[in-house]
Amino acid sequence: TTGNVTLDPGFVNTASCSSAITFIDGNAGVLQYRGYPIEQLASQATFLETSYLLIYGQLPTADELADFEHKVSDRMLLDERMRELYRMFPRGAHPMQVLSAGIMALGAFNRDNLDPHDDAQVEEATLRLIGSMPTLAAYAYKSSVGEPFMYPQKKLSYVENYLRLSFGTPVAEYEIDPAVVKAFETLFILHADHEQNCSTATVRMVGSSDANIYASMSAGVNALSGPLHGGANQAVLEMLVKLREDGLDAKTFMNQVKDKKSGVKLMGFGHRVYKNYDPRARIIKSHVDELLRNSSKSNALLDLALELEDTALSDEYFIERKLYPNVDFYTGLIYEAMGFPANYFTALFALGRLPGWIAQWREEHADPKRKIGRPRQIYIGETERDYVPITER
Ligand code: SDX
Repeated sequence: TTGNVTLDPGFVNTASCSSAITFIDGNAGVLQYRGYPIEQLASQATFLETSYLLIYGQLPTADELADFEHKVSDRMLLDERMRELYRMFPRGAHPMQVLSAGIMALGAFNRDNLDPHDDAQVEEATLRLIGSMPTLAAYAYKSSVGEPFMYPQKKLSYVENYLRLSFGTPVAEYEIDPAVVKAFETLFILHADHEQNCSTATVRMVGSSDANIYASMSAGVNALSGPLHGGANQAVLEMLVKLREDGLDAKTFMNQVKDKKSGVKLMGFGHRVYKNYDPRARIIKSHVDELLRNSSKSNALLDLALELEDTALSDEYFIERKLYPNVDFYTGLIYEAMGFPANYFTALFALGRLPGWIAQWREEHADPKRKIGRPRQIYIGETERDYVPITER
């Protein structure tokens, strides 16, 4: 038994590690960061405050938070030569490819904080990554739309800076909308960590070889890019747009999903751990109405998404398989209504997930008994046999 639950032996055998960062009860739909319910953090905390909690283990005092914000803000500006990296990508490069390369390049410009066993270097790299990620992500967007890059401004908050870096231009200042800032604070908090998901497990695995933190974070971006994982937010919007273009109604589409041979999935539904409503999806859904108020296109897609959810939640196929909306089902509608293109949504997921990856990577390195990750296998190949010369094959 650990603090919250009694683990059955089967669970212990499959657990890849023990961790004190995030607790999920998949059957009850519970998610807590360092013991704090996600509902309370999403409604009362800021994203940097939550990042501090995940990384250092406790909610910061006002002075600690101000100091953290100041250090992060001092590290939002990239080395000017990094702009050349963005210029060499073709316009159609996927933002996750650009973001992954950008993080590796950041490590190349920060060779004095690569040692995973030097606490001061790990701390500097932590602040550098948290500070630079909004700029790296915004530049991945700007280079994909061919707009000039902006510079961060110390007078703005973390999320305000990110939105201005993304949507501001030298000829038109970005109007900071407090409702949009609050929405992104909430969305980034909801994405900040999720125990040993595919990308976090990748970050820990890469980190376990003593690869530096930048290489580990870049690996996390690559794992997250898959449509079965973080790429699902893009896939959900593409699914909704195609349904609307093809004029397919929810019932007909659901029959395709239930026909295994079609290979069609209801993207944004189902989860390895949640066999109940994803608590993050519930919170996002509660915001979606207010945020889509000015976007008629997104409202039409929202109506379709709500119809798909209602249809699925009353259908035996989904009920018996315990398939519910997950974090990705509604996020794409909000991102699209805010003006981001669908292929950029997963970069927003990565921006939110970064503090969790860092916290998990640091936890991996803090364990004195840690060993390099080395999963074993069940061999199902050929039994031993002798070599046959090519002339006799
Ligand atoms: C994220 O792990 C995390 O924590 C991830 C994440 C995070 O914060 O890091 O929460 C973020 O990745 C959320 C998931 C985003 N992906 C999608 O929305 C893609 C669509 N979902 C599916 O691909 C699927 O549900 C997965 C990948 C999420 C989970 O896959 P599993 O573990 O194989 O699903 P399962 O074992 O629970 O499936 C049980 C049954 C199977 O059918 P049967 O073989 O029993 O007949 O349900 C079916 C599956 O085929 N099924 C679906 C389905 N998801 C599962 N059928 C149709 N549509 C779906 N979406």
